[in-house]
Amino acid sequence: MSINILAIESSCDDTSAAIISDGKVLSNVVSSQDKHALWGGVVPEVASREHLRLIMPVVRKALDDAQISLREVNAVAITRAPGLLGSLHVGVSFAKSVSLAMELPIIDVNHMDAHIMANFIDDPKPSFPFLCLTVSGGHTQISIVRDYLNIEIIGSTIDDAAGEAFDKTGKILGLDYPSGPIMDRMAQQGQAIFTFTEPNIPNLDFSFSGLKTAILYFLKKEMDKNPQFIQQNIHDLCASVQQRIVSILMNKLSKAVDQYDIREVALAGGVAANSALRKAMADKRDTDGWNIFIPKISYCTDNAAMIGQQAYFKYRSGLFADQHIQASAKV
Ligand code: KG4
Ligand code: ZN
Repeated sequence: MSINILAIESSCDDTSAAIISDGKVLSNVVSSQDKHALWGGVVPEVASREHLRLIMPVVRKALDDAQISLREVNAVAITRAPGLLGSLHVGVSFAKSVSLAMELPIIDVNHMDAHIMANFIDDPKPSFPFLCLTVSGGHTQISIVRDYLNIEIIGSTIDDAAGEAFDKTGKILGLDYPSGPIMDRMAQQGQAIFTFTEPNIPNLDFSFSGLKTAILYFLKKEMDKNPQFIQQNIHDLCASVQQRIVSILMNKLSKAVDQYDIREVALAGGVAANSALRKAMADKRDTDGWNIFIPKISYCTDNAAMIGQQAYFKYRSGLFADQHIQASAKV
């Protein structure tokens, strides 16, 4: 008999549901809340209300796409942490209700661990131990992954996350939210001709707040001379900012590879959709012999398939939660 898991993700501004059967993705429905672009960032209260509105139709579509009924589901998996508390509450409460109504076990999943597990959805899959750079709107981490359920963080950001660096610098450049994918597209028509200094942060930790300040001062200086500077140089500015964010990430990842002598290296999280970062990984494969793993883009940005994937590993280990679980903004 197959193990069918209904997985739900509602940690930020994407409402998503997926059906995973024996570790295979049968459906993965993501409804992105575009309302937040109006405010230039995610408004938590709006996100919670949108999750409430979307969760039923999204779950219904995930079941329909997978062509299974709720009666055939064996467990309900949910992102419990980290994320926006109100948004997480919607998913957790919904999962508890389904669990009660259908007498199903609940599996609680950590959102960051799930991003890493997106690397196990398609082939080829990494083998243990491997290093993973997880880069999202809220987190930037390098982890050593020894097993599905044995993940140790060995480096993380001391201020902004990589996705935040894209979004905040994009805002300074007048781009819409989220700026990461827009900057990625614009950078493809530009050259990285402007240089911003790389921060000198010890160990395997990251810092991105200095970059934001450096760009602000640089633009102020240039716009005093030419008020049209941003408009006239937007593609080169995007390419330059992107190049610096990618170099900060790749230099630390290379350091981790040398320090731990592990050449099995994966990417995860929304920023792993970035084409320059994906290319930098491919270059490392070609020049330094890294064995690289990058999920397809729809499994990099927030999605419930990755929640179901991690839940499947927990299911096999008998790790179930109960009605007492509480959503948590932090890990
Ligand atoms: O993992 P994710 O979907 O949500 C969080 O858990 O935060 O990541 C969202 C972040 C946003 O900051 C967005 O700007 C960034 O990922 N992002 C990108 C790209 N696609 C999404 N950043 C750079 N280039 C992209 N192509
Ligand atoms: Zn995420």
